[in-house]
Amino acid sequence: MFEVLPQLPADPILGLSTAFKADPNPLKIDLGVGVYKDEEGRTPILNSIAKAQQILLETEDSKTYITPQGVQGYIDGLTELLLGKGNKAVLANRVAGVQAPGGCGALRILSELIKRCKSDTTVWVSDPTWANHIPLIGNAGLKIETYPYFDKAQASIKFDAMVACLQKVKAGDVVLLHGCCHNPTGADLTKDQWNTVLELAQKTGFIPFIDVAYLGFGDSLEDDAYGTRLLVNNLPEVIIAASCSKNFGLYRERVGLALMVTENTTTRNAIQTQIQSIARAIYSMPPSYGGALVDIVLREPDLRAEWMAEVEMMRSRMQDLRSLLVTKLKEYGAQQDFEFIKQQKGMFSYLCISPEQVLAMREKHSVYFVDSSRVNIAGISLKNVDSLAKSLVSVL
Ligand code: LMR
Repeated sequence: MFEVLPQLPADPILGLSTAFKADPNPLKIDLGVGVYKDEEGRTPILNSIAKAQQILLETEDSKTYITPQGVQGYIDGLTELLLGKGNKAVLANRVAGVQAPGGCGALRILSELIKRCKSDTTVWVSDPTWANHIPLIGNAGLKIETYPYFDKAQASIKFDAMVACLQKVKAGDVVLLHGCCHNPTGADLTKDQWNTVLELAQKTGFIPFIDVAYLGFGDSLEDDAYGTRLLVNNLPEVIIAASCSKNFGLYRERVGLALMVTENTTTRNAIQTQIQSIARAIYSMPPSYGGALVDIVLREPDLRAEWMAEVEMMRSRMQDLRSLLVTKLKEYGAQQDFEFIKQQKGMFSYLCISPEQVLAMREKHSVYFVDSSRVNIAGISLKNVDSLAKSLVSVL
């Protein structure tokens, strides 16, 4: 049976970690997979999470199954964080939700739900988008099209082209938007641009599918939710996939959330059963552990305050690293203008260099990042920034 299948190339993002580990150069730099790192290059367990683990250890009294829906306190807490306290759609009982195994799990079950609703739905994704969006959505059997998003030559969003494209999508098509900290470019829509996206959705009748994986890493937990809240507060239907991998540092625990904002409670109740049956047919129920930790952190005022401070610390460290890299590039004689790195948000920056230059960085200087020129800003440190900047200038 198995011999009919060929060996596949390494994953464009996860494969970088394997290549990095195999590189014997002691001065190698890993700017590949999107994980937060501290100055020592470690991805620590947040203090708020460590304390929640202790509480859970002392209070959890069973390992029996949870429901396909997941930990209800987690769903409610994260929904409130995303949509704001007293959200009208939540109060009107129009929001269905399930805990999912990671943001990926949420994206996949939501794609399956879209397919159940209308099997020939087209999902529009930004050009470029996170590499794994394509298999997650496409393998559910949905058609994928792209809308223009980022102009590599100008290192900025092509908003006019994006609007021109979205004006033409059909009612009922789905448009995937990055809630904040666009992956891979770090180029986010402004508030005015989100307002235009809302008008477009109202005019054409497309349904927004928002992926929020970096809440709090852009400007603040509140500001980063602007686009999501705007669309949820003004449209009858919105789909949201959220992840706690980055902002709660819970990567390996697989903590995600699938939310569906529906037109009324009757539809909400139907959709809640549909998404649960999709989950049941794929993995039965999500792992409870990470969701239970987030539930504790969001519920306990002291832990919540500590977590918010930790998110702020991660965000400001990444913002400082952006400025430092730009300064060092100038210092080492870059002719190209890299100021745009400071404007980009979150964990990633698109350096806007060619695939050949990316390869030269890997092969000549042991600096690992995605072929598209996406770098993980959190992988930069005071120790490696000089060598990174020097190497980059040498390949320009
Ligand atoms: C990334 O974009 O690097 C992360 O979201 C990790 C992944 O699964 O690709």
